[in-house]
Parts: sequence; C-alpha cells; structure tokens
Amino acid sequence: TEVETPDRSLAGRHVLVTAGPTREAIDPVRFLSNGSTGTMGFALAAAAARRGARVTLLAGPVRLDTPPGVERVDIVSADDLLEAALAHADADLVIAAAAVSDYAPAAPSDRKLKKGEGDLTLALRRTPDVLATLGERKRDGQTLVGFALETHDGETHARNKLERKNLDWIALNVQGEAGAGMGSATNRVTLIGRDGARVEIPTASKAAVADAILDAVA
Ligand code: CTP
Ligand code: CA
Repeated sequence: TEVETPDRSLAGRHVLVTAGPTREAIDPVRFLSNGSTGTMGFALAAAAARRGARVTLLAGPVRLDTPPGVERVDIVSADDLLEAALAHADADLVIAAAAVSDYAPAAPSDRKLKKGEGDLTLALRRTPDVLATLGERKRDGQTLVGFALETHDGETHARNKLERKNLDWIALNVQGEAGAGMGSATNRVTLIGRDGARVEIPTASKAAVADAILDAVA
C-alpha cells in the first residue's frame, strides 16, 4: 500500500486571507452588504493551514466554522478590514477573497432612521481599497493574490486590477456562469499572473480550487 506524504510546502510561511462580505452601517439596525458567503476564502485558509502555514483569516460576517489551525479575526466593515490587514501586512502570501463593499454610508445614523413620506437618498463615501493599500507597500518576496468576480469583460477588468493593485496573481471568476462565483459550492477560476502566466482551473469544489490556486501561486 502507498502512503501519501502530506504536503507541508508552506511550513514556516505566514499566509493572510481575507474572506466574506463587509457590512457598512446605515443605522444601528441596517447596513449595506453583498451576498458573499466566505466559502472560497475559508477554503483557501484551510488549504494553506493543511500545508503547514501559519494562517491569519480576516473574516467578515459569515456562518462558517473556523478551519483547523487557523487564527481567525472577525471584522465587520471595510475600515475594520483595513486596520486588521495592516496589522498582518508582513505576511509572505496574501490572498484577498473578501467581497469588500466599495461604498459606505457617509454619515451613519446612531439612531434608527424613521421613514418619511417621500423617498430617501443616502450619501455614500468610497471605502479604502484594502488590497491596493497592501499592494502599495508590497515588500520583496511577498506574493499578493486578488480575486475579480466579474459579470462582463472579465479578462480586461481582471488584468486592470492586477496592474492597479500591484498584484502577482488575480483569480478571475465569472458571476452568472453555472457552478461559479458567489453562493455556488463550486467555482471555476482563471488565474492570471503578472508575468503573463495563465492557469485554467476547471469547475470543482471550492476546496479543490483552493488547492489548485495554492499549487500555482505558492
Ligand atoms: N478589494 C479590497 N478592498 C476593497 C475592494 C476590493 O481589498 N475596498 C479586493 C478584493 O478582495 C479582491 C480585489 O480587491 O481581491 C478585487 O475586488 P473587486 O471588487 O473585483 O475590484 P474593485 O477594485 O473593487 O473594482 P470593481 O468593484 O469596480 O470591479
Ligand atoms: Ca469592488
């Protein structure tokens, strides 16, 4: 019988993963958010821990158990995520799978808003771009991986993000494609590298896709 040697290729490495949605408060009982379930990011954290990495998982509000051996830090808003990410910005490998809200209410109310007769307009401010901030401070030997979930012109948008955020890799997935994207148990990813590399990861469970991503980037 053959015994498989466990893959400990990330032993001694620190891996930082962001996962899940953020919530941006409108008032004490309401928020802006999105449908991210955190599954892909948690799968990546679990896979990195299995390979022996020290893993820090910055998790938005999701209903998922913390993978074994992973240090989890819960965050709520994009501002929280930036603060937590900066505290771990020295990681050897950063994988940003969080679906960060791009806008937040400019002046959240500390009292519950009461409805009026007419319509309501909310003023929104831009949130910080966490991954771009890490990209600006990227150190030698550090690898940054982003995700791009696109509905159209995916390749162009993904390459633009790779450049704009100073990434080494971007994982493109297409929302609307069967078996891929937010809320799906499976995913199909095209990994695009800074150096022109292109890795097609066929539709598979998010755990299998996480392993394939680590094979390519680590
Ligand atoms: N990201 C981030 N902080 C933000 C927005 C995005 O860290 N405020 C990260 C995501 O985790 C992802 C990557 O940046 O890894 C790309 O996110 P995406 O929403 O696709 O790109 P944006 O730059 O926000 O552009 P847009 O939403 O307009 O497509
Ligand atoms: Ca965005």
